[in-house]
Amino acid sequence: MSLVKAMAPSSSAIQISRIMRPDDANIAGNVHGGTILKMIEEAGAIISTRHCNSQAGERCVAALARVERTDFLSPMCIGEVSHVSAEITYTSKHSVEVQVNVMSENILTGAKRLTNRATLWYVPLSLKNVDKIIEVPPIQFPSKDQEEEGKKRYEAQKFERLETKQRNGEIILPVVNPDRQTKEPYTVGFSQSSLIHLVGPSDCTLHGFVHGGVTMKLMDEVAGIVAVRHCKTNIVTASVDAINFHRKIKKGCIITISGRMTFTSNKSMEIEVFVDAEPFVEEFQQRYRAVSAFFTYVSLNKEGKPLPVPQLLLENDEEKKRFEEGKGRYLQNKAKRQAEMKALVQQ
Ligand code: COA
Repeated sequence: MSLVKAMAPSSSAIQISRIMRPDDANIAGNVHGGTILKMIEEAGAIISTRHCNSQAGERCVAALARVERTDFLSPMCIGEVSHVSAEITYTSKHSVEVQVNVMSENILTGAKRLTNRATLWYVPLSLKNVDKIIEVPPIQFPSKDQEEEGKKRYEAQKFERLETKQRNGEIILPVVNPDRQTKEPYTVGFSQSSLIHLVGPSDCTLHGFVHGGVTMKLMDEVAGIVAVRHCKTNIVTASVDAINFHRKIKKGCIITISGRMTFTSNKSMEIEVFVDAEPFVEEFQQRYRAVSAFFTYVSLNKEGKPLPVPQLLLENDEEKKRFEEGKGRYLQNKAKRQAEMKALVQQ
């Protein structure tokens, strides 16, 4: 039974469909992973903002606070129709959990595939004062068990956030663009890349802050450049680790999105991406880290089959440490995926 059926009508599940066009494509001709992330975030923002305004009280806008780890299950092709559906699956006092599923449909044959499933957390901010967090109207759960499961997910992500904060500290480590001519191929420095972007009105909500989906699309673009520079083949986004949106990015900021490779397995590459924001016109405002995340890419041959990737050449202790940490995440995620597959087969 859908959780949403038990909620107020204004919070009903939503579905957004559209045909995928050539300007949604990556260079391999499939739909860009960043475009899919952007569509997911749009659906999440609509349903959570609608829900948070479903009762009388202060009007608000739901800001994306976190995206849980998400896998890209199969490619979406240009000409197919994407169906992005979203429903609210949990509410805490100040946050909303949204589950989003993306299906792609071949409208010639009617065949449908699940391409992505994502869980996002939104926090409602007052329209009068975006620094003020508003209380979320609670949803009614169809059963006590579903409420308990939701609470467990909420507590798990809260715990993980605390851990990440402690691990990252407040230190900002900019990724400097190297002079690539002087770098050895397959080193971290060789593929390291950055993109500088001035945040304009088309990137922002009506309230002048960057849409989470826009940020994720730019992050995917930079990570993709790093992956291609390393392996020089077609690549696809395989997964994105949990992303926390630490701080808002305002219209008029300059953002630097930097990516560096941290780990290579036999057929995958992990890339760490940072988004640093710097107010353009306001004086006395320092550059700050707004978002960071790990993206995993797979290199493909002309038939779309995964290829072995060149192994990363590590040049110092810092890179070796990051590689080992990446290996830990890779092994953990692989075990999780295998357990999920096993559970699906047993169903
Ligand atoms: N993921 C999920 N929930 C989060 C979160 C995160 N990364 N950060 C905060 N929250 C939730 C908390 O659990 C809490 O809810 P609860 O009281 O029901 O447990 C609520 O948000 C408020 O937490 P608090 O610690 O008081 O807020 P904060 O000062 O950390 O601010 C944000 C939270 C989301 C408002 C702030 O981090 C922010 O502005 N981030 C940027 C948002 C944005 O611009 N998004 C677009 C991306 S570019």
